[in-house]
Amino acid sequence: MRRKIVAGNWKMNGSKGLVSNLVGQVRSELASFDNGVEAVIIPPALFVDDVVEQAGKKLAVGVQNVACWSSGAYTGEISAAMAKDCGCGFTLVGHSERRQLFGETDEQVATKVEQALASGLVAVICVGETLEERDAGKAEDVVSRQVRKAVADVGNGLWQQVVIAYEPVWAIGTGKTATADDAQAMHAAIRAVLMSLGAPADEVSLLYGGSVKADNAAALFAQPDIDGGLIGGASLDASDFVSICRAVP
Ligand code: G3H
Repeated sequence: MRRKIVAGNWKMNGSKGLVSNLVGQVRSELASFDNGVEAVIIPPALFVDDVVEQAGKKLAVGVQNVACWSSGAYTGEISAAMAKDCGCGFTLVGHSERRQLFGETDEQVATKVEQALASGLVAVICVGETLEERDAGKAEDVVSRQVRKAVADVGNGLWQQVVIAYEPVWAIGTGKTATADDAQAMHAAIRAVLMSLGAPADEVSLLYGGSVKADNAAALFAQPDIDGGLIGGASLDASDFVSICRAVP
């Protein structure tokens, strides 16, 4: 049985006010059903403590990024161990905004995955092609390369801490979602890559991200290789986020 996960990436949005309004509501609404979904809130790091305090047991917390190093003179960085120490169970790694806006490379992503796993966090590794790459027929090659490089150093016994989120860059924040069939095809391809690497591919949860909303989540999550979602904009509204959590079959 793979973990079913719905993670809300707040990106650089929110406030202490949003934490107190949203987290309690999500927490109490999640208590009204039990479909086995693991809901995760991934706020800006400054709000992690507040979210952890209000999350209770049914809601996990994560950070959006970790450093390539475990400690030292790296001004402005946050280590995976610090996130763990503050009560996080998850971290995103290699979100397309990190790759595109901050020049994060496949090699840095792999190092961050190692840091996350060594600290006991689940690494949600984000992969996905741009529109140009898709139009050029290279989507699967790009995603395959990102996956291979990101998990190159994952040792035996650590795969249960690995989650992969497929987020086509052209679908992020645009209102354009991959069709359920296209998303399924890429998820199946990712699982095949994992299998070719000798990973326990059937046990690794694969999430879809990119304009997932309350009204399209069920069709995506019904696909056999889609085990949940990584949600941006819709995670900033408690009712929408909970509806998406509910859409997990
Ligand atoms: O991390 C989340 C994704 O980038 C998706 O964002 O749901 O706003 O398209 P979005």
